[in-house]
Amino acid sequence: MTKKKVAIIGAGPSGMAQLRAFESAERNGAEIPELVCFEKQADWGGQWNYTWRTGLDEHGEPVHSSMYRNLWSNGPKEALEFADYSFDEHFGRPISSYPPRTVLWDYIAGRLRDADVRKYVRFETVVRVITFDDETQQFTVMSEHLPTGETTSEIFDDVVVASGHFSFPNMPEAPGIETFPGFVSHAHDFRGAEAFEDQDVLVVGSSYSAEDIGSQAYKMGAKSVTASYRSNPMGYDWPKGFEERPAIREIDGSTVHFVDGTSKTVDAIIFCTGYQHKYPFLPDELALSGPNTVYPAGLYRGVVWQDNPGVFYVGAQDQWFTFNMFDAQAWVVRDLIMGTTEMPSADERQRSIDEWTARFNAVTDVNSEIAFQGDYVRDLLEQTDYPTFDIDEVVSIFISWTKDKQEDIMGYRDRCYRSVMTGTIAAKHHTPWMDELDDSIERYLAGHVNVQTGEITLPEREKTAAA
Ligand SMILES: Cc1cc2nc3c(=O)[nH]c(=O)nc-3n(C[C@H](O)[C@H](O)[C@H](O)COP(=O)(O)OP(=O)(O)OC[C@H]3O[C@@H](n4cnc5c(N)ncnc54)[C@H](O)[C@@H]3O)c2cc1C
Ligand SMILES: NC(=O)c1ccc[n+]([C@@H]2O[C@H](COP(=O)([O-])OP(=O)(O)OC[C@H]3O[C@@H](n4cnc5c(N)ncnc54)[C@H](OP(=O)(O)O)[C@@H]3O)[C@@H](O)[C@H]2O)c1
Repeated sequence: MTKKKVAIIGAGPSGMAQLRAFESAERNGAEIPELVCFEKQADWGGQWNYTWRTGLDEHGEPVHSSMYRNLWSNGPKEALEFADYSFDEHFGRPISSYPPRTVLWDYIAGRLRDADVRKYVRFETVVRVITFDDETQQFTVMSEHLPTGETTSEIFDDVVVASGHFSFPNMPEAPGIETFPGFVSHAHDFRGAEAFEDQDVLVVGSSYSAEDIGSQAYKMGAKSVTASYRSNPMGYDWPKGFEERPAIREIDGSTVHFVDGTSKTVDAIIFCTGYQHKYPFLPDELALSGPNTVYPAGLYRGVVWQDNPGVFYVGAQDQWFTFNMFDAQAWVVRDLIMGTTEMPSADERQRSIDEWTARFNAVTDVNSEIAFQGDYVRDLLEQTDYPTFDIDEVVSIFISWTKDKQEDIMGYRDRCYRSVMTGTIAAKHHTPWMDELDDSIERYLAGHVNVQTGEITLPEREKTAAA
C-alpha cells in the first residue's frame, strides 16, 4: 500500500508541533505518512522568528512576523510549557516566568534539535494555491521556491494549515487620517519603540498589542501614551503619562478628537486593531474566516474542517493556551490522519460542533473564556497520548496572571510561577522588566542563580547594561 502524503503549511510553533507529533509516533514504532512542511521563511519558529523587515521581504513576499525587539512573553511561561519537553530540560536551570522572545524561540527550536524533523521542511517555499479534486479526494498543492522562483505542483491526501493568523492586519479607517502629518503604522509593522522617546504616542485598540506597544513606548521614554478603545478600556492602573480615551471621532492635523469630546495632539498613531484570518492559498470553501475567537466556526474539535475532513487547522484559535494547546491539537490531528482514531461521520462531527458552540456562547467573561479553553484542551488530551498535565492548575495560573496585571501592569512580568510540568519555581530575573532594555538570550541567561532564594544576580560590571 502506498503511504499517505501530508502537507503541513507553516513551520511556526503549530507546524513544529505537527512535526513533533508525527515524530513521536515514529519513535513509538508507528509507520508515519510522507510529510512535506512548507515554510516561506528561511527558518522555523513562525512569529518567534524575528525579522527587522516590514512590508515585503527580500523576495517581495508579505513579511509574516509581527514581533518586535523587546517583546517579552505576555503570559507566564508556566502556562505554555510543553508537556514533553520542560524548560528545566532545555535550560538546565530555573529561569524567570516571563522570558523574552529570543529565549522562547530557543526553547521551541530546542525541542526539535535532536528530533530529525527538519528534513521534512522546505524552507523559503511559499504555498501559493491548494485545490481539491472531488473525484480523487486529493489535494494539489502548488508552491514556489522563493530564491529560484521554481514552482512545483504535488498531490497530497491531507493538508494541515498551520500558517498562523496574526499576520494580516485589520486596519480601520479614521476620518482625517489622510492628512495626519505624523507617523502612522499598524502593530504588524512595529519593530521597536526607541524612536518614540519624547513623543506623544497614540495606540488604537484595547487588547494585548495596544497594552504592550503602549507599554514599550512608555518604557522607552515617550512623553505621553494614549490608548483609544472601541468597546471597553483596558482599565489598568496606568502610570502617570499613560491614559485611556474612547474611540476616535476625527483627526484634524496632529490633533485627535475622541467621541467623549476630548482631544490630544500626537506625533505617532499605531493601530493595534488586530488581525484577519486570511489564507490566500485556499479556495474560499476551505478557508476559515470570521473573528479571532477561542472557538472559530466550522472546525470539529477545533481542528477538522467540517466541510472537508482532509483539511486540518492547528493554532487557529484566539490564544490563552498556546504551545501546549498546539501540541494537543497536533497529536489529535496526527491520530485522525493516521487512522489511529477513526474520523467521525459528518453528523457526529456536527453534533460535537453544536455542543461546543453552545458552550462557547455561554462564555461571559475573561475567566469563563480561560476555563472554556482549558476544557477544550482537556477534551483533546483525552483523545490522544500526549502527556497529560494539570489543566486546572494552568487555568488558575492564567487567572492569577490577570490579577497580577490589575495590581501592577508595569511590574507583573517580575512575578514568578511554579511549573505545572516539573514543580520548579521560576527564578527571579536579575533585572526588573521595566529597567531591562536588552532582550538577548545572552544577557537573559547571564548571572548566577541562588538556589536558596531563586534569585539571579548579575556581576556588578554587567548591571549597567540594563539602564
Ligand atoms: C506580536 C505577537 C506577540 C505574541 N506573544 C506571545 C506570547 O508572549 N506568548 C504566547 O504564547 N504567544 C504569543 N503570541 C501568539 C503566537 O501567535 C503564538 O505563540 C504562535 O506563534 C502561533 O504559532 P503558529 O505556528 O500557529 O503561527 P505562526 O507563529 O504565525 O507561524 C506560521 C508560519 O507559517 C508560515 N506561513 C504562512 N503562510 C505560508 C505559506 N503560504 N506558505 C508557507 N509558509 C507559510 C509563516 O512563515 C510562519 O512561519 C504572539 C503573537 C504575536 C503576533
Ligand atoms: N507578548 C506580548 O507581549 C504580545 C504583544 C502583542 C500581541 N501579543 C499577541 O498577539 C495576538 C494578537 O493581539 P492583538 O492585540 O494584536 O489583537 P486582538 O487581541 O485581536 O485585539 C484587537 C483589538 O483591536 C480592537 N479593534 C478592532 N477593530 C477596531 C476598530 N475598527 N477600531 C478600534 N479598535 C478596534 C479590538 O477592540 P474591541 O475590543 O472593540 O473588539 C481589540 O481591542 C494575541 O495572541 C496576543 O497575545 C502578545
